[in-house]
Amino acid sequence: TGAFTYDPGFTSTASCESGLTFIDGDEGVLLHRGYPIGQLAEQSSFMEVSYLLLNGELPSQAELAKFENTITRHTMLHEQLATFYRGFRRDAHPMAVMCGVVGALSAFYHDSTDITDPQQRMIASHRLIAKMPTIAAMAYKYSVGQPFLYPKNDLSYTGNFLRMTFGVPAEEYEVNPVVEKALDRIFILHADHEQNASTSTVRLAGSSGANPFACIAAGIACLWGPAHGGANEAALNMLHEIGRPERIPEFIARAKDKNDPFRLMGFGHRVYKNYDPRATVMQKTVREVFASLNVSDPVFEVALQLEEMALKDDYFVEKKLFPNVDFYSGVILSAIGFPTTMFTALFALARTVGWVAQWNEMISDPEQKIGRPRQLYTGPTQRDYVPVSQR
Ligand code: CMC
Repeated sequence: TGAFTYDPGFTSTASCESGLTFIDGDEGVLLHRGYPIGQLAEQSSFMEVSYLLLNGELPSQAELAKFENTITRHTMLHEQLATFYRGFRRDAHPMAVMCGVVGALSAFYHDSTDITDPQQRMIASHRLIAKMPTIAAMAYKYSVGQPFLYPKNDLSYTGNFLRMTFGVPAEEYEVNPVVEKALDRIFILHADHEQNASTSTVRLAGSSGANPFACIAAGIACLWGPAHGGANEAALNMLHEIGRPERIPEFIARAKDKNDPFRLMGFGHRVYKNYDPRATVMQKTVREVFASLNVSDPVFEVALQLEEMALKDDYFVEKKLFPNVDFYSGVILSAIGFPTTMFTALFALARTVGWVAQWNEMISDPEQKIGRPRQLYTGPTQRDYVPVSQR
């Protein structure tokens, strides 16, 4: 009953109006506030892109300096949160820890939860962007049993994150500029992607007027799934499982087999049906990082050959399946030293910018109302209750 349009997976339903991100999936175009992702990834910085997404325009030099300073001032976590971490098992997945810690922030910032006040919304957004590297690095430190490191404010956003993750109190940590640049670029590539599942989750959660920290925790939960942000971890695990180029055909055959649930992880996209422009930049970045660090990884060779073979295969051509952003990101993250379990946590860190920007856009929209999808009911028609003794 009910005259509703049924659109499973929302493949043809626009849930909002948005001025942030434009995607043309057939042409492989991705623009943030009009700027092509390739230009931003190669020429801009994650802080600049964050400012752009939040405020609509690229910052002037003075505006950027002020923004960076503001973010820097919010990088510390409440000291009590260190105790909260200690409640988790050491082998907890970092995404489980991230969901918990980010959700718990709502209990610490009662002052930034009047979401009707744009200034308070901006403070909450700055806090979230600033604290994510600290939260993610602490999740890592906790998992390896090393002490938490406090942020160091003379470092860049990304440099600070690297130090908090890989540094130890016993010695000075020197940020490698090649690694810093590559990671910053990875953050840019993940910053926003219009109404994907986790962003839609953040908007839906936020549409009820919920606390922003809780809304972002909801986004993190959704991102964790292997069909979404969890794909970078799954893709690298798959490349390791394949192990050597000779085994690629076997995995391609499995991906094509209707009776085998296996999919090529890091392949395919709901919107991109030509190529994922982020994957192009990512592949190039792997080459640059490997060359500058003078390292190699047999897994990269497997990835390149897998891409080449899949793109020649009718199945992948007909279904328009191409490598997505997650196909190559794991190769770089692993070269930098991150364990696979941290990959999706890094995605969450970067996507927080998109989430808060989209959340702000939604709340300031005068047309905004609570998200409340309808359904097509398929259950029993009305019937009378029978007491348990008579059933
Ligand atoms: N390997 C093999 N077959 C695939 C793959 C794949 N990676 N992706 C899609 N297909 C097939 C699928 O079996 C289906 O075939 P048929 O029409 O015969 O049933 C057809 O292609 C369409 O797939 P779909 O699942 O209906 O498409 P969707 O738009 O709902 O799903 C997707 C998009 C990204 C979830 C899917 O391509 C997938 O599961 N890919 C692997 C996971 C992945 O890499 N996810 C990261 C996405 S990008 C980053 C992010 O969003 O976080």
